[in-house]
This record gives sequence, C-alpha cells and structure tokens, in this order.
Amino acid sequence: MNTTTALITGASGAIGKAIARQLAQDLSYQIILAARNEKKAEQALQEIIQATGNSNVRYELVDVSRRASVKALVDRWKGPLHVLINNAAAAPRRRLETPEGIEMQFATNVLGYFWMTQLFSDILKASAPARVVNVASYWAGGLALDDLEFKRRRYNNDSAYRQSKQANRMLTVAFARRLKPFDIAVNACHPGDVNSTLSNDLGFGGSQSPDAGAKTPVWLAKNLIGQQQSAKYFERLQAVRCRFGEDTEAVEALYRICERYGEKG
Ligand SMILES: NC(=O)c1ccc[n+]([C@@H]2O[C@H](COP(=O)([O-])OP(=O)(O)OC[C@H]3O[C@@H](n4cnc5c(N)ncnc54)[C@H](OP(=O)(O)O)[C@@H]3O)[C@@H](O)[C@H]2O)c1
Repeated sequence: MNTTTALITGASGAIGKAIARQLAQDLSYQIILAARNEKKAEQALQEIIQATGNSNVRYELVDVSRRASVKALVDRWKGPLHVLINNAAAAPRRRLETPEGIEMQFATNVLGYFWMTQLFSDILKASAPARVVNVASYWAGGLALDDLEFKRRRYNNDSAYRQSKQANRMLTVAFARRLKPFDIAVNACHPGDVNSTLSNDLGFGGSQSPDAGAKTPVWLAKNLIGQQQSAKYFERLQAVRCRFGEDTEAVEALYRICERYGEKG
C-alpha cells in the first residue's frame, strides 16, 4: 500500500482536528498533526487513533507565527510530504505581537501559511505530485498592502481577520504559479461556519459541525480535482471566482513583502 503523508496545522482546533480525523479514516494516510500546545496535541492524537484505528498518526509541535519554529520543524522532518494543509489561525480581540514584534494575526494567519509553504517546498517537490490546501474563508477583504500589521489603521480583530483571509487567497495564487512546474497544486477554500475559539473571538457562533467544515478541505486533499486544479478558490466543493487572486500586481507585491519578513530572521 502506498502511503500518503499529510500535515495539518491547527490540528488540535475544531476544523483542523476534523480534517485530520477524516483523512486518517483512510488507512493509506500517514497523518501528522501540527499543534503548538502539547497537551491538546496529545489529546487530538488519542481521539483520532481511537476513532479511526489508524495508528500511523503523530504530532509535531510548531508555532506557525514564528519563522524559526517552522524552520525547526522543516529541519527535523524526515521522509516525504504529499499534502500540506494550512489551517492554523487566530483572531485575538486585542492587537498582540509575536516575540519578534509582528502583529499576531498577520504573523499566524498570513506569514504562518507563507512560511509553511515556502520552507516545506523542497520537501513537497521531492514528494510530488503534492498539494497544498489553504483553509481561507469567504469572509475576506480590506487588505492594505501598506498597513498589513495595523500600525496606521486602528486594530479590530474582524478587519485583521478579513485581511488575513484575503491574503490566504492571494498567496495561494502566488505559490501555485511558482510550484506548478514541480507538479504541486495549491488551492484555497472556505471550510464552513463552525463553532470554534476563532469564530467565537470573531463574535459568531457557527451553525455547521466541524466535520461539515472539514469536507471541502478534505475533498481538495483527496480528490483528483485538488491535484488537477491549482490557484483556485473553492466553496462547497465548487471552484468560485476569486477577485483577490486576479489582481496579479497586488498578489506579487504581497508575496514579496512576506518574503522580506523571512529576511529579517
Ligand atoms: N470556524 C469557522 O466558522 C471558519 C470559517 C471560515 C474559515 N475558517 C478557517 O478555518 C481554520 C480553522 O479555524 P477553526 O474555526 O477550526 O478555529 P480554532 O478551533 O480556533 O482552531 C485554530 C487552530 O489554530 C491553532 N493556532 C493558532 N495560532 C497558532 C500558532 N501560532 N501556531 C500553531 N497553531 C496555532 C490553534 O491552536 P490552539 O488550540 O493551541 O489554540 C487551533 O488549533 C482557520 O484558518 C479559519 O480562518 C473558520
């Protein structure tokens, strides 16, 4: 049996855990749960093994808001990676910064996706055909290339969140373009409206189950369409036109800005 290795960030959260469990139901999958909290990671691991009978599941600790932590994960990685699912996100109500001084939503929701994809790209290339699934949202917009960290604008978590989810969709196109020659598909999707820490911080409850929310990301990870299509944005298993990805100039400008954060260390 050929094994497909899938890495899911935010795998101790509502949607991430459901994605990991659904993928683990297929015993040909090796699942790596990426989480920042060891206790939650251990609990998610046990739940998934018990629910699926797949013992080929483990966790890795990583703080995606910190490049050094992502780099350390990549450096200790052994073996292939066929499916990377960027899903970890936060929406703190107050403006917070990482120890490196980067606004927390931008660092986690945007640079986290960027660094995971960029730093894992050599491993993905060596494992190709491979795919990257970016869990984004229909709730997106208001991105200001000249104020990504809310230094000029007054911070509120909804505006910072919508900006970050727009960025996820834009960077999907930027990476898709770069990784296409290596047979790596990169797509984004809206999962579903799910009750979670994140949605509660944003002030909405969410009417769908985590399993329903996981459906489109899992489909993109497993279905042939998720390999054949790239640079696309999906809702409910359907490609939907995304105006954010069509603004090539802004997409490339955002990519370059994210790249420069890496140069800072
Ligand atoms: N819920 C919805 O209705 C909805 C709608 C549209 C899109 N989405 C998207 O779905 C994804 C998952 O959200 P969710 O609703 O499942 O939220 P959630 O339950 O709050 O899960 C978020 C996960 O991200 C992890 N995380 C946060 N910051 C991190 C960091 N710096 N490093 C590593 N992990 C970190 C959290 O870890 P801890 O457990 O340690 O806090 C948690 O496991 C997000 O990308 C979100 O934008 C959700």
